[in-house]
Amino acid sequence: MSFPANPTPHDYLAYDVGALKREPTIEKEELDAYLRGIERHPYYAKMLAVKNISMLHVDVLMLLRLLARASRQAILEIGPYIGGSSLAIGSGVRDRGGATYVSIEHGGVEQEIGGTYREHPFYPSSNIVADLNKNLAAEGLQAFVSILVGKSDAPDVVGEAFRLIGEGKIDLLFIDADGAVDRDVETFAPLLAPGCVLVFDDYAAPGAEDKEHRVRAVVDAQVAAKKFESFGVYGWGTWVGRYRG
Ligand SMILES: C[S@@+](CC[C@H](N)C(=O)[O-])C[C@H]1O[C@@H](n2cnc3c(N)ncnc32)[C@H](O)[C@@H]1O
Repeated sequence: MSFPANPTPHDYLAYDVGALKREPTIEKEELDAYLRGIERHPYYAKMLAVKNISMLHVDVLMLLRLLARASRQAILEIGPYIGGSSLAIGSGVRDRGGATYVSIEHGGVEQEIGGTYREHPFYPSSNIVADLNKNLAAEGLQAFVSILVGKSDAPDVVGEAFRLIGEGKIDLLFIDADGAVDRDVETFAPLLAPGCVLVFDDYAAPGAEDKEHRVRAVVDAQVAAKKFESFGVYGWGTWVGRYRG
């Protein structure tokens, strides 16, 4: 499906409706064209408000919403924090009429139940999981996502994700966690559908070079091995691509 060169707000709405019905494959050229006039999108102001609780660039939030609408199977998110990315994905899932959408949150810096991140300069939280649930509930999205609390490699969390999702069913994987995308891709590889869209934050992460080096090394190696296809880097450093499996 092509996208107009100079989109109007109506073009965006029509495209978004089409994304719910079309073949699920979105191409890089469409994503690039979609973002070119994105501030004209009628949902942009809403996503700017979501940005108030998200560490992601608003362009990436808009892409996550679109990719969730265009997904036909299950969605796995690792690292929602207090839910900025989850509101973007969840709104797309709601527009689809629901889907299997699983989000895994470790719970934060100090490892109490729920976790805390009181010192975060922009988005402090004294209970990450409680704030995540509260933010989802405020948008009426709680029913559209299954939150699993724990590390993405904890056996109980992994087992529950496998039970909820099923083999070969994920067609959108979003990771914004501790940079160990190699570990997470390996863990959840049996659940990935061929052609699954991959969105990994921290491909560029000034100030968090450890994460950046690990994410970049994994992505670049997998692209070189033709296991991943690269669409590009969006926002402040979020890599988007496709799993060739
Ligand atoms: C950068 S924040 C996520 C930001 C969020 N996606 C947004 O839109 O603002 C990273 C989150 O990943 C979580 N995290 C880190 N490692 C994790 C792991 N192995 N499993 C699950 N969550 C993890 C942290 O607790 C934190 O909440």
